[in-house]
Amino acid sequence: RLTHVDAAEILDSRGAPTVSVSVTDGSGRRFVAGVPAGASTGSREAVEVRDGDLDRFGGRGVTTAVRNVQTEIRDLLTSREWSDLQQVDRALCRLDGTPNKSRLGANAIVGVSMAAARAFARDASVPLYRFLSPDDTQPCLPVPHFNVLNGGAHADNGLAFQEFMIAPLGATDYSEGLRWGAEVYAALRSELRRAGLSSGLGDEGGFAPAIDDPLEACGLLVGAVESAGLSVGRDGVCIAIDPAANGFHDGDTYEVAGQRLSSSDLVDLYADLVDAFPIWSIEDGCAEGDDDGWKLLTERLGNSVQIVGDDIFVTDAETIAAAADAGVANAALIKVNQIGTVSETSAALAVCRDRGFAAMISHRSGETPDAFIADLAVASGCGQLKSGAPARGERVSKYNRLLEIAASEPSFGYGCLS
Ligand code: PGA
Ligand code: ZN
Repeated sequence: RLTHVDAAEILDSRGAPTVSVSVTDGSGRRFVAGVPAGASTGSREAVEVRDGDLDRFGGRGVTTAVRNVQTEIRDLLTSREWSDLQQVDRALCRLDGTPNKSRLGANAIVGVSMAAARAFARDASVPLYRFLSPDDTQPCLPVPHFNVLNGGAHADNGLAFQEFMIAPLGATDYSEGLRWGAEVYAALRSELRRAGLSSGLGDEGGFAPAIDDPLEACGLLVGAVESAGLSVGRDGVCIAIDPAANGFHDGDTYEVAGQRLSSSDLVDLYADLVDAFPIWSIEDGCAEGDDDGWKLLTERLGNSVQIVGDDIFVTDAETIAAAADAGVANAALIKVNQIGTVSETSAALAVCRDRGFAAMISHRSGETPDAFIADLAVASGCGQLKSGAPARGERVSKYNRLLEIAASEPSFGYGCLS
């Protein structure tokens, strides 16, 4: 039984307002959740409620969402006993009444769902990663994907591609993977300084030098891995990219480093990058609506590279299932606030398992120190997590939570390549 539900307006890692939720159980224990926020969002994402009052935070305040938690949602959740999280999440969706959570706000609902998950885990006397793990799943520590070069909507440089990540696929365990990430990040900072490039940071803690060529970006990463004394490739450190192609798509062309590219030119560019560099995963390589581009990308590179859908799937189980039928992508990015409840996120992960899709759990570019997704990544057994650079509190809270889990569960495996 939940005896109290409350919320507050706090700041996220970009200094923008976001929602913090707390629920209190019958023993007086309080469980808190912080809600993340994206900058490069899919058009079909669950909708945040923002105040629109231009006198506060440029209209981005969340006092309406907070009040929705303190009134209707509190009344609902404290009115009865709840048997499980699915029941709570279904009731939240029903109370909202819209298909995209736009009445009460996905930012209100997802915070309540996350805090309630923590209350249920405590009630069952298990850690969150056990509570969230389905019966047919073996939990494991994910390969951390460190976004060390930022572009697109996350930085003001001319780099069209949003994220260049390093993935320590070949580490023997999670803590070694984390150390490799931090060592490559430090080596990259030195590389940039040597090249006379800025080591200022983008929203996810990666560097944001004034470069525009994705080949140059990948070259910098390989240089950093080597100068950190690590091996390049699947037995060492690989590269994963999230171009977030919605961000440089206009009409039916893409603009990369001053060049206008058709979808097939863009797929050629990815093929060149994959030939030249140890790229193991490409996320949102094409834009929403460019169905032909997505199919071409999957056909050309899907056998050798993980092709991840983020903005096109928005963590929606049915959309992922339809894509599997249509031959679009072979993996899904999973973001709890993109769909708006923990149960619906679990449903999306279940579809991935059923359809042979890989899955990568993800933070948002606007984050709080809440490490919920670290537990979710372990629980899902998907073996992959992206949480930005191995720097800045809101990013490392997730990586450090994984260290804690790894230490308390020495039998859990590491990674996604079996
Ligand atoms: P966002 O970006 O959190 O700004 O939406 C993350 C991503 O595209 O993966
Ligand atoms: Zn993305």
